Amino acid sequence: MIIAIDGLAASGKGTLAKLLARHYDFAHLDTGLLYRAVGVAVLQAGGDPTNPQSATAAAQALNPQSVLSLGDTPALRSHAAGDAASKVAAIPAVREILLDFQRNFCANPPSGKSGAVLDGRDIGTVIAPQAEVKLFVTAAPEIRAERRAKELRARGENVTDAAVLVEMQARDARDQERGVAPTRPADDAYLLDTSRQSIDEALAAALAFIATKQQKH
Ligand code: C5P
Repeated sequence: MIIAIDGLAASGKGTLAKLLARHYDFAHLDTGLLYRAVGVAVLQAGGDPTNPQSATAAAQALNPQSVLSLGDTPALRSHAAGDAASKVAAIPAVREILLDFQRNFCANPPSGKSGAVLDGRDIGTVIAPQAEVKLFVTAAPEIRAERRAKELRARGENVTDAAVLVEMQARDARDQERGVAPTRPADDAYLLDTSRQSIDEALAAALAFIATKQQKH
């Protein structure tokens, strides 16, 4: 079984993906980490993430497996990394290079797991349109900005909610308006608005939706 979770920044999709993977004992792939790793590689080389040559070279040089084994690192989770990620993610060749790894993860979940949970922006629409379960997670921009700012402050970044909101809205617009794989819910996605939900409530809603899908299979 494949569970595809898409949504905007700080909507809660990453937390939900982790919890669902744990619940079903499925493999989990946070696809945003791949784009973050490409963005950070460009920045580290002193390049411009909007430059197709620099971004494509960084994507080609990336070993997605090593990104997964490193997992969440502060360098990948920083605000700068998120910003660079959304710039390289708008370049079609970068997305093309990362496609096979993600599709293979769906087809052959690692460690012999019987299913996979992938979270990102284009999982239900491009990477795994065949997924049995598709969720699209949203929340009001102010709430997402507050959550993201809190997360960044906990990591030692000195940011205000207001500044994060402005930059997050620019990132949302870039992700939703790009020509290739724009962020949008698949036609058959279940929309989950976490603005007023705790993590437990969002998880319960997702599990209830998945149960209805399992009954049909
Ligand atoms: O989800 P996260 O904030 O880590 O993603 C960082 C950026 O990577 C997003 O803003 C988006 O531009 C890009 N991304 C994407 N497609 C995905 C996952 C992430 O374009 N499947």
